This record gives sequence, C-alpha cells and structure tokens, in this order.
Amino acid sequence: MTSTRRTTAYAPGRVNVIGDHTDYTGGFVLPMAIDLGTTVTVERSGTSVHLRSDVEPSPASVPLDIADPSRAEPAWARYVAGIVGEVQPPVGARGTVRTTLPVGAGLGSSAALEVAVALALGFDGAPLELARLCRRAEERASGVPCGIMDQLASVAGVSGSLLLIDCRALSVTPTPLPEGAAVLGVHSGQARTLAGSAYADRRAECEAAQAEIGPLRDASPRDVDAVHEPLLRRRARHVVTENARVLAFAGALARGDLVGAGLLMVESHASLRDDFEVSTPALDELVSELTTIDGVLGARMTGGGFGGVVVALVREDAIGSVGASVGNRRWWRFVPSEGAAVS
Ligand code: GLA
Repeated sequence: MTSTRRTTAYAPGRVNVIGDHTDYTGGFVLPMAIDLGTTVTVERSGTSVHLRSDVEPSPASVPLDIADPSRAEPAWARYVAGIVGEVQPPVGARGTVRTTLPVGAGLGSSAALEVAVALALGFDGAPLELARLCRRAEERASGVPCGIMDQLASVAGVSGSLLLIDCRALSVTPTPLPEGAAVLGVHSGQARTLAGSAYADRRAECEAAQAEIGPLRDASPRDVDAVHEPLLRRRARHVVTENARVLAFAGALARGDLVGAGLLMVESHASLRDDFEVSTPALDELVSELTTIDGVLGARMTGGGFGGVVVALVREDAIGSVGASVGNRRWWRFVPSEGAAVS
C-alpha cells in the first residue's frame, strides 16, 4: 500500500479598510488579513483534485489536466480549477474545505480559497509569487480582471497591523492598528450582484482614462481635469483622490489621529458612490446609519462594491453600542491577523 501525507493549509480573508478600485492601476490599498478564513486539508493521490466544502452542496472534482477552469461545475470548482491549472501539481488530492468566512460578502473568500488550495497542493514559492499565481487563477476562473489586493493581503497578513500595499512596487508596509481602535464589519444584507461585469467595465474605464493622461498612479488633480469624457473624468478622479486618501489615512493612523482617519473613510465612500458608482442604496444607508453612532469614527463600503459588508473604524469602547444598533444584521469585530500558512 502507498502511504499518503496529510497537509492542512489555512488562508485568511481580508477586509479593505481604505483604497478600493485602486489596485489594478498600480495604486495604494490598505487592507488587513482577518481572523476568519479557509482551511483546506488534503491527502495527495490520484489524477484529480476532489474537495468537499462545508458551505457548498456539491463537491469540486477537477482533473489535473483541466483545460478551461472557467467551465468547471459547480461554480466554486472554478477557483479550485484555476489553481490546479496554475500550480500544475504532479499528483492529485482528496480532502475537505472548511471556512469561517461569509462567501460573496466582499471579505476575500475566493482569494482565501485559492491561497489555501495552492498551499495544500504543494506550492512552495515566495509569498509574492503565491499571490500573483492566485490572482491569475482568479482571473482564469471567474473572468474578472481583478487586482492583487485580496490575494496579497491573505498571503502577507501581519498580526495587529493593517497592510499598506503599493500595488505598483508590490511592497507591503505593516501599519499597526492603534490601541483603542477597532475595525468592524456589518453585512448590508445585500448579496453582491453584477459585480463581475461592472468590475470589468470600471477597469476598462480606468484604462481609457490612462490612455489619455498616462498612469493614474502618477496623475495630479489637474491631469484629471484634462480627461475629456465627463464619465471617465469622474472614474479617474476617484482613483487619484483615493490613492491620496490611502496615504493620508496611513499617516493619520501613525499619528494616532483616529478622527482624521475616520473622516477619510467617509470621503472614500462618497467617492466610490458618486464618482466610481460601485455602491448601492443599501450600502449607502448602512454607512449613514453607522456614522451617526457615537464612537464610530468612519465607515465605508469595502472591496468591489455592489453589496456585501460595510467596514467601520470605531473606538473600542463603542463596539457594544454598534452591536446594539445594527439590529439583526450580521456583524464582526475583525482582528488583524497573520497571513496564510501550512501545517
Ligand atoms: C475586488 C478585487 C480586488 C480589488 C477590489 C476593489 O475585491 O478582487 O483586486 O480591485 O475588488 O478594490
């Protein structure tokens, strides 16, 4: 009998505290890996990867020579297939997927699945390579031309810190969450819809603006004013002002200026709502509700948009009153956590 070795890989989800729709034009983002994540346990054998998930009715069964991950069924198997296509493991695997992340809520559940599957299938390269590989797998699986934030945050998480990521240099600077502050997530109750096609549209709009004025990462507000088409000008304005807000937010945290940091989150939400048009009435309403609570410093949509979770920066002593105010919505206090690991 051949003996098989058991591998367990864990990858966290992420919440993006500020800096959305900036990663795919080489801008700045400030997410953190959270204390919810996905665990993949496998034994290696055979010529396919067969995984059962505790949150999906049907298993994913992917042959090692999968040609087109985007056609795998059921839908969650596409992420597994994307990873199989990228890692190209010599041997298959059978095992389980367990997750504490809400799926499709804007907390990086697909990135956590990708990273955990890649590690479980034996990927052992550098963390940045892992993030890049998983980003490619996501694009192949879902057709969404996503940036690298979710995968890099899952891989590079640091306990107690947010991660200032320069998406051009692909550098990660840990930025400690100050004492007395907490990051909460409240689910809007709206499952994300249409995110895929609208995401690709926004990315194309950013590229059209860049064709006119050069990299948005380097553009000034004056450059933005020169964009001819009003809609593209608004998209570009969001990206340019959001990059500046991320850097200002990191500075405010370093100074312990939580009030200033919170105001930047509210401005970020307004920009995503008005200039980038990726928010929804349910997200807008939840952000306004949260920001009226004493001790809530700021709140905004997080991730791609179109539903899911709202993130809030709050004074630690106000967590109870937030919990009491959100009714029957699901909410979490997120702890900034370590990145993915194999055991
Ligand atoms: C999704 C993508 C990320 C990023 C965000 C928006 O989460 O996967 O790469 O673009 O949307 O900031």
